Amino acid sequence: MKAAAMFPARKSLEVIPDFPEPKLANPTSVKVRVLNVGVCGTDREIASFQYGFPPPAGSDFLVMGHECLGEVVEAGADVKDLNPGDLVIPMVRRPCDHPECTACRAGRQDFCFTGDYRERGIKQMHGFLTEFIVDESRYMNPVPKTIRDVAVLIEPLTIAEKGFIQTGQIQRRLPWGDRHRAVVLGAGPVGLLGAMALRHRSYEVTVYSRSREPNPAADIVKAIGGKYVSSLDQTAGQLAAAIGNIDLVYEATGVSKFAFEVLSVLGTNGIFVMTGVPGKHPAISVDTDKIMSNLVLKNQCLLGTVNAGKDAFENAVADLSAFHAAWPDAVKSLITGRFPIERFAEPIHSDTGIKNIVEIAA
Ligand code: BGC
Ligand code: ZN
Repeated sequence: MKAAAMFPARKSLEVIPDFPEPKLANPTSVKVRVLNVGVCGTDREIASFQYGFPPPAGSDFLVMGHECLGEVVEAGADVKDLNPGDLVIPMVRRPCDHPECTACRAGRQDFCFTGDYRERGIKQMHGFLTEFIVDESRYMNPVPKTIRDVAVLIEPLTIAEKGFIQTGQIQRRLPWGDRHRAVVLGAGPVGLLGAMALRHRSYEVTVYSRSREPNPAADIVKAIGGKYVSSLDQTAGQLAAAIGNIDLVYEATGVSKFAFEVLSVLGTNGIFVMTGVPGKHPAISVDTDKIMSNLVLKNQCLLGTVNAGKDAFENAVADLSAFHAAWPDAVKSLITGRFPIERFAEPIHSDTGIKNIVEIAA
């Protein structure tokens, strides 16, 4: 079968025509036909050799792809909750092997202490840009058929969901309940899905991003009842003056300079959630006295978050279904490009549109 891979030694992206088709490994595993695989900034960084890790032991390539929608074709004898024909989204991260890693041992490898976790399509494990995969059924999340056309967006949505599970826990410190003015940094798929999740939770949402209107992402923001502001038109200070107390910032750009500018205008009792992984740039200076004073005097919380657990996947499935019902056109218009596997390198190399996907099977 075909597989789309990155070869680090020769720095190339290639389709392997004869990658071996996997077989059911044991009674608790499932075999899945891959339908759609989304491409994101992480893939772009892996393919530009800035981020990423060795391929699996004994392999000179890494099969890419971690945002996957698939269909179960075979289930092991001990798999109770999945049947052939079911749609599933696989989780990305697999636990480390260290007995002392309480996170991985508790099934929460998204909080792995050792850093020796593996990630399919990213770190030491082949990914999903291929025709069939086999994996343990506990890493598969069922998806209703009603959202099949957009379900490939679930994995990127889990990033926001994990962030909001944690902000919910933090906001419980405020006895009168949470407040509801949010800023989303960035209008890519992770930002727009985060904006939808916040609107769905009745936040007033302002998406703050570079491009001026008109642009398709700004149209989506308005369609879901949010506000769009270009950073070319308003400074962070002006943005905060217009909004009032910023209770929550959800960062989805990976641009650290931009994030720290907005951190300096976070409101009282505010939470700032970072999800982007910056590339390597020269160091910049930030006013650390101001930021630290604000963190203390305004009871602020700065939170970094990566990957996602089962709870976030479940919330993402439920939320995407709700978004799909509330804003069908806006959700569909997040997917801006569809490519066959032979052309998988194109959306990885050129970052145009919002979410580009590789269609492996219909
Ligand atoms: C993926 C996460 C992963 C992270 C770091 C993101 O693009 O969505 O699952 O943990 O990259 O590798
Ligand atoms: Zn991704």
